[in-house]
Amino acid sequence: MESIKFLFLLLFQVVLSVFLFILFQDKSKKPEKNVSLYLMSEEPVITILLWTWPFGYRFILNQCPSSFDITGCFFTANRTLFLEADAVVLHQRDVCSSKDQLPQFPRPPKQYWIWFSMESPSHIVNLSFIDNLINLTMSYRADSDIFTPWGWLKKPDNAQIFSIPKKTSLVAWVISNWNPSNRRIIYYQELKKHIHVNIYGKQHLPLPRANHSDTLSKYKFYLAFENSLHEDYITEKLWYNALVLGNVPVVLGPPRQNYERFIPPDSFIHVDDFSTAQELASYLLELDKDDHKYQQYFNWRSKLQPESAIPWVSHYCKICKALKEGPNYRTIPSISRWFK
Ligand SMILES: *[C@@H]1O[C@H](CO)[C@@H](O)[C@H](O)[C@H]1NC(C)=O
Ligand SMILES: *[C@@H]1O[C@H](CO)[C@@H](O)[C@H](O)[C@H]1NC(C)=O
Ligand SMILES: *[C@@H]1O[C@H](CO)[C@@H](O)[C@H](O)[C@H]1NC(C)=O
Ligand SMILES: *[C@@H]1O[C@H](CO)[C@@H](O)[C@H](O)[C@H]1NC(C)=O
Ligand SMILES: *[C@@H]1O[C@H](CO)[C@@H](O)[C@H](O)[C@H]1NC(C)=O
Repeated sequence: MESIKFLFLLLFQVVLSVFLFILFQDKSKKPEKNVSLYLMSEEPVITILLWTWPFGYRFILNQCPSSFDITGCFFTANRTLFLEADAVVLHQRDVCSSKDQLPQFPRPPKQYWIWFSMESPSHIVNLSFIDNLINLTMSYRADSDIFTPWGWLKKPDNAQIFSIPKKTSLVAWVISNWNPSNRRIIYYQELKKHIHVNIYGKQHLPLPRANHSDTLSKYKFYLAFENSLHEDYITEKLWYNALVLGNVPVVLGPPRQNYERFIPPDSFIHVDDFSTAQELASYLLELDKDDHKYQQYFNWRSKLQPESAIPWVSHYCKICKALKEGPNYRTIPSISRWFK
């Protein structure tokens, strides 16, 4: 009787210790969260504080290792980490209503303040608030310390051979901000007398997000008309709506030579190539009738592939890369004098 009791106890103890062993082993192997993977890496961790979410838009931070293979940074939007932050990112449009919106604490001497804007100077006010406070600039301007364009060209993926999407319509334009005195609207008013343009956006044809790419890629031409004219200010209107979706951009923006710094000369049509909107319209109608000539606008796609930025992750990840590499920067005392 006694020995059966003993055997029972022994069995119970064996089961318990196996159970505890599995439990313990499992816990010791599993890192708590992916965040801790950066902290465990050998390189020092750079802490980057987003002073605000850009335009209040929240996104998943700390995607740089998985999305861009950029490691070594810890991003946070928690202002209590201000004193520990190696860099603080100030998104211009979120801090422009008064100086009180800038960090008010004493500034750690080694901390970088990074000024960030993807908007053009025409849509930015109170820039002088941050004069003499900034270490690095980050914007779509190619001469920024951290250059964050809306898009770029890369070598094509071998797996994907580009073919021109099937075309059933002629000219498309997506516009939500209809300001009658804006140059692009004035130009359109003249253009529409000579060619039909399908307009999508507020007060025009609906364009649900899910239909965006299918709808626009059916057009032969896309009006990539920028809201204001500034050096390098070439937005997703060109990069995504036109180039990525496989239609020929008709651009209105900085001069042709500025575009040619970023994309091949034979990949787009510039309104300045024509002395009148009527001449542009005739040229588009001529291309519509001449498939061979139209297709020449895609010859460059055998060597290059357009890619548009993923807002906002791809921009912020560039900070990590820049700070790890240097950072290489020049101090611009007056942002308001530089950003025009
Ligand atoms: C953790 O990171 C690894 C490697 O970057 C990735 O493959 C995995 O999907 C991540 N897991 C989670 C839960 O984010
Ligand atoms: C910010 O960080 C502090 C200190 O680590 C923590 O107590 C607080 O809960 C955090 N706030 C948020 C919103 O995560
Ligand atoms: C610019 O600054 C002035 C003075 O602080 C402020 O009254 C105004 O609202 C600011 N403009 C914007 C668009 O925030
Ligand atoms: C950043 O700029 C501020 C203001 O010009 C300056 O006081 C500070 O020393 C600079 N910080 C670094 C790390 O260069
Ligand atoms: C959007 O796409 C769906 C599925 O292809 C289609 O049924 C619907 O009619 C489209 N809507 C518009 C406004 O084009």
